[in-house]
Amino acid sequence: MANLSASCISFLLCFTTCINLISSHYLPENHVALFIFGDSLFDPGNNNYINTTADFRANFYPYGETFFKCPTGRFSDGRLIPDFIAQFAGLPIIPTYLQPGKRKFTDGVNFASGGAGALVESHQGFVVDLETQIKYFNKVEKSLRQELGDAGAKKLMSKAVYLISIGGNDYFTKNSSVSDEEFVSMVLGNLTVALKVIYSFL
Ligand SMILES: *[C@@H]1O[C@H](CO)[C@@H](O)[C@H](O)[C@H]1NC(C)=O
Ligand SMILES: *[C@@H]1O[C@H](CO)[C@@H](O)[C@H](O)[C@H]1NC(C)=O
Ligand SMILES: *[C@@H]1O[C@H](CO)[C@@H](O)[C@H](O)[C@H]1NC(C)=O
Repeated sequence: MANLSASCISFLLCFTTCINLISSHYLPENHVALFIFGDSLFDPGNNNYINTTADFRANFYPYGETFFKCPTGRFSDGRLIPDFIAQFAGLPIIPTYLQPGKRKFTDGVNFASGGAGALVESHQGFVVDLETQIKYFNKVEKSLRQELGDAGAKKLMSKAVYLISIGGNDYFTKNSSVSDEEFVSMVLGNLTVALKVIYSFL
């Protein structure tokens, strides 16, 4: 399993690096980055790098068998919707935020975590909740400003596409103690806060 994961990671790194080499060091005028937030529908393997249980991970077969030829942590046998969107947009596979190593953020980055919800209580302690994903986005914004300057970072982030899949896990784990109406307004309230933080950078 250790060897499998290692070869899988090097495949992904090569895949990303090879494409990066072609497009390195300057951003074409029409460059559009992809920032991804959410749950297992979009998680490319962030949960491989947090302290969680097997229920929240997809790092075993048959996950990954059709496209990556190894389990990457995606809850799929192949690519996820953000992978297809990146591909159709001419972007490489978008980097997994928590994957260790040197990461390039100019094509965007994926913060999604299987099991996550808009509320911190949803699978708390086992996932990267939306609020934390937004905090990581904050860090990426700082790093982009260092790399591209304030104006360059703002331009990249304003033109970027933001994909968010969140909310399902909140309803799966809902407490009976809160009315449905109250619960929906909590979920939407927290999602609104997250969207406002993202907008504040644009
Ligand atoms: C991971 O979580 C388990 C159970 O919550 C805990 O016992 C353990 O100390 C944690 N490990 C780390 C490295 O945080
Ligand atoms: C649901 O109930 C548990 C136990 O009372 C509590 O720890 C948790 O925070 C609650 N979740 C929400 C969304 O209120
Ligand atoms: C966000 O969710 C928490 C529970 O996690 C809730 O107490 C709070 O009121 C919600 N915030 C908004 C703005 O709805």
